[in-house]
Amino acid sequence: MSKLFTPYTLKSITMRNRIAVPPMCQYMAEDGVPNDWHLVHYAQMARGGVGLIVVEATGVSPEGRISPNCLGIWNDKQAAEHAKIAAAIKKAGCVPGIQIAHAGRKANANRPWEGDNHLEVSDPRYWEIIGPSPIAFGGGILPRVPREMTKEDIERVKADFVAAAKRALDAGYEWLELHFAHGYLAQSFFSVHANHRTDEYGGDADGRGRFLLETMEAVRAVWPDHLPFSMRFGVIEFDDRDEVTLQESIELIKKFKEGGLDFISVSLGFNIPDAKIPWGPAFMAPIADHIKKETGLPVTSAWGFGRADLASAAVESGQLDIVSVGRAHLANPHWTYATAMELGIDKPSWVLPAPYAHWLEQYKL
Ligand SMILES: Cc1cc2nc3c(=O)[nH]c(=O)nc-3n(C[C@H](O)[C@H](O)[C@H](O)COP(=O)(O)O)c2cc1C
Repeated sequence: MSKLFTPYTLKSITMRNRIAVPPMCQYMAEDGVPNDWHLVHYAQMARGGVGLIVVEATGVSPEGRISPNCLGIWNDKQAAEHAKIAAAIKKAGCVPGIQIAHAGRKANANRPWEGDNHLEVSDPRYWEIIGPSPIAFGGGILPRVPREMTKEDIERVKADFVAAAKRALDAGYEWLELHFAHGYLAQSFFSVHANHRTDEYGGDADGRGRFLLETMEAVRAVWPDHLPFSMRFGVIEFDDRDEVTLQESIELIKKFKEGGLDFISVSLGFNIPDAKIPWGPAFMAPIADHIKKETGLPVTSAWGFGRADLASAAVESGQLDIVSVGRAHLANPHWTYATAMELGIDKPSWVLPAPYAHWLEQYKL
């Protein structure tokens, strides 16, 4: 049987198989509050057999959302709705996880299908964006310069992450992922492209890593030791300093590990708009494998694993401990079940709840 469909245990949590849905923003919330869109979306994928769902990037503060329609977890009303999602995921036999995030200089954008651009200053939904340095992301989007964060801002955002982690725990999430990737706030602190600070939060790799390490350690102190504590981190930019970035990332991940991090979701930096990213099926697999070998932490990665053969090979080879499959689950929330069938696992009850599995035992697609 494919190793993909063997259980995976991290701390006290066991996934029924080694497939995860990575965080995918839905841009469907008002005031950061989850609603029935989110409940149906996540519950349906959980019922489709996947082992872990990491709920989309969820703002630790209003300013930390990518768009005005992103989820939040900075107040009790939001947390109460998150609790319904976590319970629905768990009830379907899947591990409920959440990604907590601050979008930094990429915040205050409209929805991707509405232009993926910063909102105009005249827009009533405008808010000030912050970052390590006053450097705009640029590219094809409005060149909005973030306000350089003061030490007070840094302390406030760290405290927001801690409060969000506590609410996530109370809401019933069992797997916490810090969003330290994709050019959002934490990742931008680590980037030479976005961080030109001259204080202790900038400069060499230790300085640029300081905000990430301190935030991680602050959250570690409130997230229980028996539950998986994970981070999505961009280890490579695909620019002309990749060798250095990779090595700096490995050294920082070793510090995260010493500080109590359990797991890494290996991803990209996305700090510059003109990166030369070699898009293709499973292109992050060798990089994730390298991170795993160099740091000794278990890993997942995403980007183009949404085919049974690719997902299975990545786990079978040991490159990934868990494979993350995003868009294929948007196309088919029962992708995990379909993949099990494709790999010859003809026991629907292994991956589907009884109201589906009972009928599909006799009815093969
Ligand atoms: C609609 C959409 C929203 C996304 N939102 C997030 C997010 O909230 N956090 C994150 O870390 N990555 C996000 N991503 C990236 C995905 O987690 C994943 O890395 C990407 O879809 C590639 O995996 P795939 O090829 O299996 O789809 C998003 C991707 C999509 C398509």
